Amino acid sequence: MAFFYLEEVDSTNMYAKEHIYELEDKTTVYTFNQTAGRGRLDRKWNCAGDGTLCASIVLKPSSNMKISYSSLTMYLGVVIAETLEEYGVHPVIKWPNDVLVNSKKICGILAELVSYPGKLEGLILGFGINLNSEKEELENISQPATSLKIECGKPVEPKEFLEKLMDNFFERYQEFLDKGFDLIKDEYVSRFGFLNKEITVKIFDKSVTGVAVGLNNLGALILLDSDNKEHTLLIGDIL
Ligand code: BTN
Repeated sequence: MAFFYLEEVDSTNMYAKEHIYELEDKTTVYTFNQTAGRGRLDRKWNCAGDGTLCASIVLKPSSNMKISYSSLTMYLGVVIAETLEEYGVHPVIKWPNDVLVNSKKICGILAELVSYPGKLEGLILGFGINLNSEKEELENISQPATSLKIECGKPVEPKEFLEKLMDNFFERYQEFLDKGFDLIKDEYVSRFGFLNKEITVKIFDKSVTGVAVGLNNLGALILLDSDNKEHTLLIGDIL
């Protein structure tokens, strides 16, 4: 495990992708000054001032493809929620991998692959987490957002938080690669705030409404619509 600090960068995910051959497996690239952050589903992602920790974990697993790679972001979501709990807050996971506290977003996650035909060069697991952002800075974000400082009432030491998080992440990383979503399913479901609630999930230009009845063993969300038809969703956004 290693850390690589950048004073300023357009996007830690982009940096990690562009420097994939120089960065060792299990290196976390991080900054508090990201100027062109990338979000899920091709969106832009803005930090809430320099209190937002922007980081990308560089992973170079030995197998070319494993089913567990597709739910690594959900594993990271659980680890982030567990680390936040060490600070006395009660996070909720919004499927697939947003982390909320008091119904406000505190962390977003974006995974990107670096591959050449037939060979996986690396997996980049990016996350942006509002540690010490102030209320006014969070007002510029397009959705209700909060920070750990606001929720726990005192400033957080960012490097200490990052080190705790990475220790927690790598503690079960190999086991997660071998066992997949099943390993963390109970931990995920116990923090999934939308179980048995009627929700609408947007998938690009379509949407599905139904009751969230559970997750399957790959982390796909199962919705039951008003005609009792089951929908198994692999991607999307809960509205
Ligand atoms: C989302 O909520 O849409 C995902 C946001 C992911 C943001 C992080 S910040 C660090 C890393 N670098 C990026 O450009 N994006 C991710």
